[in-house]
Amino acid sequence: QETLRGAADEQGLRIGAAVANGPLSNESQYRDVLSTEYNGVTAENSMKWESLQPSQGQFNWSDADEIVDFAQSNGQSVHGHTLVWHSQTPNWVQNLQGQDLQDAMENHINTVMGRYAGDVESWDVVNEPIGDDANLRNSFWMQELGEDYIAEAFQIARSADPNAKLYINDYNIDGINAKSDAYYDLVSDLLDQGVPIDGIGFQGHRVLGDVPSSLEDNIRRFAQLGLEVQLTEIDIRIDTPASDSELEQQRDNYEEMVNACVSVNGCVGVTTWGITDRHSWVPDQFDGQGAALPFDENYNKKPAYYGILEAL
Ligand code: XIL
Repeated sequence: QETLRGAADEQGLRIGAAVANGPLSNESQYRDVLSTEYNGVTAENSMKWESLQPSQGQFNWSDADEIVDFAQSNGQSVHGHTLVWHSQTPNWVQNLQGQDLQDAMENHINTVMGRYAGDVESWDVVNEPIGDDANLRNSFWMQELGEDYIAEAFQIARSADPNAKLYINDYNIDGINAKSDAYYDLVSDLLDQGVPIDGIGFQGHRVLGDVPSSLEDNIRRFAQLGLEVQLTEIDIRIDTPASDSELEQQRDNYEEMVNACVSVNGCVGVTTWGITDRHSWVPDQFDGQGAALPFDENYNKKPAYYGILEAL
């Protein structure tokens, strides 16, 4: 029987899933679907700063290791998420100033990438550095270190693991718009300056019926800069309960997104932000919405699953 994994393997594409430790430990169906249907994994939370280094100098590897071990046992690649972000980063980091913050960034990147060198194929080095207004986000990173923190993070990352692919990642940049234009300019400048950036991730958290028609063209323009592109965090949320016709529309939306990636050389993979509607950040984050993933709450394949399969 055909699987997403089999179809993606044939195309040389990555089909990834964001993985949570709870169900990975507790649900055999979760493990079965993850290993059968996906050739890649991203830790949904357990490689974030607050998980890996909750207090200064104290690293907590157990959840991240569990995911990496699972991936290795099942021949899956790991996309590391994420090293430098304004969110899910402990207060002790946010309270550092100047050189102390710079040192903490360097130490964190070196320690984390060093530990997983050879095990994690690619990293979201900097996540969400541009805001919704298309300007560099005025995060504590910006305030303390200025915009150079981005270039510095990539330089540190390159030397921490020269073999890892280094990504910049954000939401609402899958279509051609002011924010993705800002990324185009930022990344072009960084590349001109010799900053080691290998890829850009379009997160792809979408609302039903709202897949940007410019997605494929947008992927292509970044690929033409010489970058890899991945759709790193796809989910397509619906007002719940979802009707049959909405689930069909969701199938078309998934197919369209995956197709855009398949159509461009240089788009190397797609990842769904979860596997099953049983475990998804969407209902917690977006009131009244859910049903965003390819498997339903009982691990049945939804129309969305077949949309992805069709595109692969
Ligand atoms: C989300 C997780 O899915 C949630 O479990 C957590 O509570 C908050 O973060 N963009 C990102 C991801 O880069 O890290 C976010 O993940 C979703 C939005």
